[in-house]
Formats: sequence, C-alpha cells, structure tokens
Amino acid sequence: MKVLVVGSGAREHCLVDKLFQSPKVDKIYIAPGNGGTSQLCENIDIEADDIESLVKFAVAKDVGLTVVGPEIPLAKGIVDKFKDKGLKIFGPNQELAQLESSKVFAKELMEKYNIPTASFQVFNQPNSAKEYLKKINFPVVVKADGLAAGKGVMVCENKEEAKTAIDTIMVEKKFGQAGNNLIIEDCLKGQEFSVLAFSDGETILPLAASQDHKRAFDNDRGPNTGGMGAYAPTPLLDKQGFDQIIDGIFYPLIKGLKKENKLYKGILYAGLMLTDNGPSVLEFNVRFGDPEAQVVLPKLKGDLADIILKTIGGKLSEAKIEEDLRACVCVVLASGGYPNKYQKGKEIKGLEIAQKQRDILVYQAGTKKEAGKILTNGGRVLSVVGFGSTIKEAKDKAYKVVGKISFEGMQYRKDISDKALLSPKSKVQCPKSN
Ligand code: AMP
Ligand code: GLY
Repeated sequence: MKVLVVGSGAREHCLVDKLFQSPKVDKIYIAPGNGGTSQLCENIDIEADDIESLVKFAVAKDVGLTVVGPEIPLAKGIVDKFKDKGLKIFGPNQELAQLESSKVFAKELMEKYNIPTASFQVFNQPNSAKEYLKKINFPVVVKADGLAAGKGVMVCENKEEAKTAIDTIMVEKKFGQAGNNLIIEDCLKGQEFSVLAFSDGETILPLAASQDHKRAFDNDRGPNTGGMGAYAPTPLLDKQGFDQIIDGIFYPLIKGLKKENKLYKGILYAGLMLTDNGPSVLEFNVRFGDPEAQVVLPKLKGDLADIILKTIGGKLSEAKIEEDLRACVCVVLASGGYPNKYQKGKEIKGLEIAQKQRDILVYQAGTKKEAGKILTNGGRVLSVVGFGSTIKEAKDKAYKVVGKISFEGMQYRKDISDKALLSPKSKVQCPKSN
C-alpha cells in the first residue's frame, strides 16, 4: 500500500518512521515533509493545507491511505474531500474537526454530555462580555473561539486584563474570524497533561498519558510555543485515574456523538488539568500532538497502519495496543529566538552520531537538505527522544545526545520531564499568559 503523510514537523517524521514498520506499507510520500523525511521517503512539494492538490496527487498516485498531521487541513475539510473521491484518510470530518477548530462547539458538546470542564459562558459581542466581568471572580480565562495558533487563550488575573483580552479578540480582531465568538471560563488549578486515543466512533483505544512543555524557557517561563518537549507515561495517573478519563471523558463524548449519528474517527486528543476535583478537559484536539506524538508513538509496539485502517473501517474493537513499558522523553531543539524571530539556514552538526546512539530516536522538523548538509529551516528544528527504564534515565539519555548536536543559536529547555518528579496533584499556579 502507498501512504501519504500530510505535514512537515517532527510529529510527521515520527509517523513516517512508525508507518514504515508496517508490512502493509510499501511506499510513503510526505507533503511537504522536511530534511529528515527526504532521507526516508519521498517529499512532495505540496503544502499541508493545499487540499485540492493533495486530492489530485493521491488520486494520480493511487494512494491507499492518507494520514494527516496538523489541524488546519482537518479544519478545512480534507477528510470530506478525500472521501468524496473514494480515498481512505485518517481523521475526523470537517464537522467533528470543530472539536478543535471551535472552542464553543467543543464546550457545548462537553456540557451536553456531562464531561468535566471549567464552567463557561459564550459571547458574540464585546460589550456583553465586559458586562459579564462585573459579576464574576478572578482569575478567569478568555478564549477566542477559533484556531489562533495557540495564542488565542489568555489567563486574566483581574477585570482590566480580561477587558484587554476581550478587546484583543473581538475589537482588534487579532485572530481574525477566530474571534467572532469568545468564551470566558473559570481558571482551573492543577497539573496539565494529555491523553491521546484512537476512536472509530464506537471504541476507544488510548495511548500512554503524556505531558507537554509549552513555555519556551525552563520552569515554565517565557512565551507559549508549539511545545518544547514531552514525556510519557506521566506518573500523575494510576490505572484507576486513567480509566476514569477514558470512561468519564472519551466514551461519553463518542457515544453522545454516535447517538447523533456522528462517528468520530481518528485521534482524539484531550488536553486535561488534574484538579482537586479530578481531571477536567481544557481542550480537545483532533490529531496527534507535537511533541506528544514523539513520545507516545515510539512506545507503540504494534502495527500503526493496521490500527489506523481498523479505525477508518470501524473495526477498532479488533485492534490491540501493545506498549513498550519504558519511559520516553523528548527534548525539542529550536532556533535561537523561537517562538519569535529566528534565523534559518544554519548547518546542523552531530546528527549522524546522534542518530546512531542506543535508545535514541531523532526526528527532524524545521530542516532542509542542501548540498548534502542538513540546515535549519524553521522554529522547532529537531526532536531528540530517549528511552529509559525510568523517566530520569530516559531524560539523561536524551540530554546526553542533545550535547552531541549543535547549530548556531540552538535553544532548548534543560528541565523536560522534571515535572514528573513533582508529587501527584501538586499545585501549579495558573499559568500567566504572555
Ligand atoms: P487551550 O488551547 O484551551 O488548551 O488553552 C491553552 C492553555 O491555556 C492550556 O494549555 C492551559 O495552560 C491554559 N488554560 C486553558 N484553559 C484553562 C483553564 N480553564 N484554566 C487554567 N488554564 C487554562
Ligand atoms: N503540543 C500541543 C499540541 O500539539 O497541540
């Protein structure tokens, strides 16, 4: 079978790597891919959100399965367009992709199906939103409804900050149409983590729970990024806590949708906060997380292509997930200045040695191959993943290899996975928005 992977990050490099382990897969194309994927499979010069060209390509090349990495093509309806042409594709349709592309859609479904989440109100006018501020306690969280590249959520300590957030979203329209509606919700306290699961609309097959590190600098300081590192599994949850999430969050959602004749097919990603009252949903995503994929997929022992095909075919109950029980820690190496302005075109040294180390995987993101060299070509450049019998061991292995890699301006966090050493339910302050 020929497979098309859509995207260009380390998550997609990891997907290619994993899909190649399947006996069902003969050839992989990736659109547009990166310097790392060009060494593994065939990079195709089509952007991830150019759905028309992707459909044409998949028809012309007789692609048997398409796997989508990022959210934008899903939100733009890539699944519907591929299905119209009889092509197999992994992910939810445009309507259900709104679980990520519209926070109002997601929150209303959570309310309808009694899924634990912060109390909220929806507004479509700045004045009514500001009026509401007079009646509530602070802190609160103000969120633009639509996709805003991770910047549309603002934690506000007081009324003034909340007014500014409302103006940014609805008056200045900093996030465009994404700010036509907004949500004001209670600010939750606790540790954040993620659970990603396969769903065919009836059965849920979860992967290990993981923790991302969204802030640019150590100790969760600095601006929000796409994610500077992750680890799995998280010791925050025991088996009972994990089952509580599957039974109390994932199943109520997909069963509720099924009653509405809507089958959620794809990866369902729950971003959660472990509060004193138990886990509460901060957000749903409709795809693998990046860098979460780089720590949960390498732990998957089975055939990823087979699980994906069973998901699409509504036969997930026949699939089983076997996991490598070791811990996995991923450290993201970024260009100096990321997530703000950064330079590109810096030569990356030490990659070959790094890739050869035991218990290490190196996935490329913002890279390109030029004249036999691998150069930086984006904000997040590499994901270095270490395996270990404990999180500490996995962390030490990953950082040892990070020490062998260099490029001008290389920036990374030194504390990835240290959160695992905090006691379960230890309180973290509500993160302050930048
Ligand atoms: P979201 O895109 O909704 O996940 O929000 C992005 C980030 O904002 C989350 O990862 C949290 O750090 C923070 N956040 C979102 N909602 C809340 C909330 N209700 N309480 C506290 N922090 C939140
Ligand atoms: N790492 C967060 C995300 O993929 O949305």
